[in-house]
Amino acid sequence: MNINADTRLYCLIGDPVSNSLSPDIHNYLFDRENINGVYMCNRIEKENLKRFIDAVKLMDIGGFNVTIPHKIDIMEFLDEIDENAKIIGAVNTVKNIGGILKGYNTDGTGFVKAIKDRGYEIKGKKIIILGAGGACRSIAVELASEGAGHIELRNRSIEKAQIIKDILDVNFEISVSISSESVSKEDIENADFLINTTSVGMESDDCPVDAGISVSSDTVVYDIVYKPHRTEFIKWAEKNSLDTIYGIEMLINQGITAFEIWNECIIDKDTAKELREMIVN
Ligand code: ATR
Repeated sequence: MNINADTRLYCLIGDPVSNSLSPDIHNYLFDRENINGVYMCNRIEKENLKRFIDAVKLMDIGGFNVTIPHKIDIMEFLDEIDENAKIIGAVNTVKNIGGILKGYNTDGTGFVKAIKDRGYEIKGKKIIILGAGGACRSIAVELASEGAGHIELRNRSIEKAQIIKDILDVNFEISVSISSESVSKEDIENADFLINTTSVGMESDDCPVDAGISVSSDTVVYDIVYKPHRTEFIKWAEKNSLDTIYGIEMLINQGITAFEIWNECIIDKDTAKELREMIVN
């Protein structure tokens, strides 16, 4: 990386930001695409968000990502917000367009990009989503806007699933059901996609479905948990010969989507693959 007088700054803000893989993703892409930018992490406390926004404008920072706990609070400081980010109610990417700050949410778009990169269609598909937190909301909105046929939200707290169903019902022509029951063999076999958006399996050997269930279908299993890389859910899917999409693919693609927005470019699939190999190894 060659930092000089023309290098443009990009960053991640959150609290905390240590352990983030975003600098690895973006600095790799700046290098690979030969774009004169550099990506840093800044821990910003909630009461300093306004001062950070002033700094973005003063220093002409090209764009920034937003992580916990600022994804909602940042919105009041932005000039424009992308339609799906508005529906989701959270922003994770901001582009500085000549002093006008526009917010996007690339969690859902990155999630969907990973599915499309594998050659799968979303239109008309029957999708079960486990969980109903912030990640589920971004993913469900993006799947609905891609024309998914039916979304079933499964969450132990039914009221959280209801909130997401209401958002989908108001904004999209899609059939949505909710349940607090755990998924059965028949549920899984009848679904095109089974997606885990809960934190179950994160740095643990828990599985969000009953690992004793054995299925025979073409259901694609997608786990958004990326630590460990090969979760118990992924192992269960592999045991059942189901196709799998790893959490790292969503993580990399949300970064790639942000990079594409900032730099108005398209990152090819090979670069995404290289990035994945670099991060996993
Ligand atoms: P994120 O923003 O990453 O989605 P979150 O908003 O904390 O994180 O949501 C985590 C999701 O995992 C929630 O749907 C949560 O279920 P509740 O809404 O009932 O809390 C789900 N979850 C976490 N631990 C779980 C567990 N042990 N079993 C089932 N679901 C769990």
